[in-house]
Parts: sequence; structure tokens; C-alpha cells
Amino acid sequence: MEKYIEKLENIFKQAKQEIEEIKNLKELEEWKIKYLGRKSYLANFSEILKNLDLEERKKVGEFYNQTKEKLEKIYHQQKEKLSEEEIEFDFYHPGNQVYYPTLTLISSNLKKIIEIFQNMGFIIIDAPLIVSEYENFDSLNMPKFHPAREMWDTIWLKEPRNYLLRTHTSAFQVPFLKKYKPPIRGIVPGKVFRFEATDSRHDFEFYQIEGISVSENSNFSHLRYIFEEFFDNYFEKKITLRFRPSYFPFTEPSIEVDISCVLCNQRGCSVCKFSGWLEVAGAGMIHPFVLKEAGIDSKKFQGYAFGTGLERLIMLKYQINDIRLLHSSDLRTNEISS
Ligand code: DAH
Repeated sequence: MEKYIEKLENIFKQAKQEIEEIKNLKELEEWKIKYLGRKSYLANFSEILKNLDLEERKKVGEFYNQTKEKLEKIYHQQKEKLSEEEIEFDFYHPGNQVYYPTLTLISSNLKKIIEIFQNMGFIIIDAPLIVSEYENFDSLNMPKFHPAREMWDTIWLKEPRNYLLRTHTSAFQVPFLKKYKPPIRGIVPGKVFRFEATDSRHDFEFYQIEGISVSENSNFSHLRYIFEEFFDNYFEKKITLRFRPSYFPFTEPSIEVDISCVLCNQRGCSVCKFSGWLEVAGAGMIHPFVLKEAGIDSKKFQGYAFGTGLERLIMLKYQINDIRLLHSSDLRTNEISS
């Protein structure tokens, strides 16, 4: 009987000595197999117990149990210690992903666009989101019942009456021109709101960038130059422009502005519907009615205005196919920009 107890004592002594020298978890697992594994001395101890008489079996069995518990205990202690050390020193251990605060795609792109226009001498104006019916419509040559009002699905306020969430940044054209007398050029970037269902290409709120330039001879060729500079800088490549006749009540003549497809370089792709062109802005020469509303003599001054959608530009630049991603709080959307 003594012999078994001694044997168990020796095993524990040896195991303890060995475990103290172990430096990593891999060695610790080898130790565990050796002393507590299926082929270990302890695992086969029941065979030995079977051959002992009852009294001896009780004593040796108890000692065996204690030894096993002690081995398990030192195993767990060592494992805990090594795990902590390994995390501290293992430079290859994968860390938790850290999201550093970055500007959203909307903010970073708006910043870039503002810079481009500032470099061309435009002032940047932050205008109110809630505007009067007059500012949004009447001042822009769209009196009540004008069919063109139908182009904008408006979100009206209950109070005060005749106020709304601006449907376009053009609502600031007249207040802008009243405040800053010509010659002046500026941009009004910001959110606009439409009462419409959302899908991958429409959201009920989005950003526009309104451009206004009035002087004695602001004209279409200036507008063309400004657009060329802007799009080349924004997309960081040479862009070709196309002006198409169009209609807006507040410009005369009015145009739609197309750029050569930034994705396929006019070879034809599904984004430009194989036309090679992308519609990116509305523009025109400011209607004399609008200049008059702003108290500007349309015989002396003239100007151009344009409006473009920020999200559309971002979607084209980063090849994002759902506008709603830009307004969601999914941080992965922002990673595209870095
Ligand atoms: N406000 C127009 C829209 O939301 C865009 C626009 C067109 C703005 C022509 C302009 C312009 O300044 O001249 O659809």
C-alpha cells in the first residue's frame, strides 16, 4: 500500500517540478497529457485499486483522488498565469478591431467639394433647413398652382403654416442675392427633404450643392469652366461635359449637365446604361424674375446657378449602389474612403 502512496507522491513531486519550468501553453498541454491524459499513470490507477483489499483501497483511493485534484489545480493555475503572460507578450495575437473616429463619407466629400469651390473664389453659405413657401417656390418663379411645384414632393410644416422643409437648396437663391450684393459667387451646400418613398437611389433626405454666381457678365462659358474644374478635381481625372437643354422655372435657358461616365470612360456600362453619360446637375442662367425678386437690375446683372446632388457624386466615386448606406450608421461604409 505504502508503495502506491509513495509512487503517487513522487509523481506529484515530479509533475510540480516540471510544471514550474513550463513557459508556454503548448508545453503545458503536453504536461497535461503526460500526467492527466488517457495514458498517464493516474488514468490507469483503477486497475491497481481493484487488486487491493477494501481497507487499503479506501486509503489509497483517497490519496489518489487528492493527488489528482492537486494536479488539476496546479494545471489550471499555470494555465491562467501563462494565458495572461502570452497575451501580454504575443505580438502576433490578433487584437480587437478598433474603429478610429473618421468623418463620414458625406462629411469628407462635402469638405473636399467646399475646398474646390473655395479655391475658385466661391463663398460658402449655411442656409436654414426650414424655409417659407415664398423662398422655396414663389421667389423662384413658381407661384401657387404652378405645375412645376409638382416636381418637388414637399414636406409641409403644420405650424407655422406656409413653411416647409426645403425641397431644394435653390430656396436660398433670393435670400442669398439679397444679402450678398453682386458681383458675388457662392455655394450653398446642405440637406434637402422630399416626401417620397426610399429605394436604393432615393432617400427622403439628401444633400444638394447649390451654386450661384451673379455679376455683370457671368455666363455659360464661365459655368462650363467652373464645372470642368469641379468635376476634374472631384473625380481626380479628366471629365468630359455635355450640356443638354432642359426646363426649370427659375433659369432661362435651363440645362441638364452630363459628365462622361466615370466608371467605364464611355466604353458603356450598366451605370451609364451604355450611353457613356451620367446626369449630374441642373443649371441655367438665372431667370430675370428671380433677379428682380432679389432686387437686382437684370439689365445690368446676369448670372448662372446650378444644383447637384452630393450622394449621387459619392456613389459614383466610390461605386456604392445604395444611397441608404450613406445615411445609415453602419461604420463599414466609411471604411471605403480610407
Ligand atoms: N433645384 C433643382 C432641383 O432640386 C436643381 C437646380 C436646377 C438648381 C437648376 C439650380 C438650377 O440652381 O439652376 O432639382
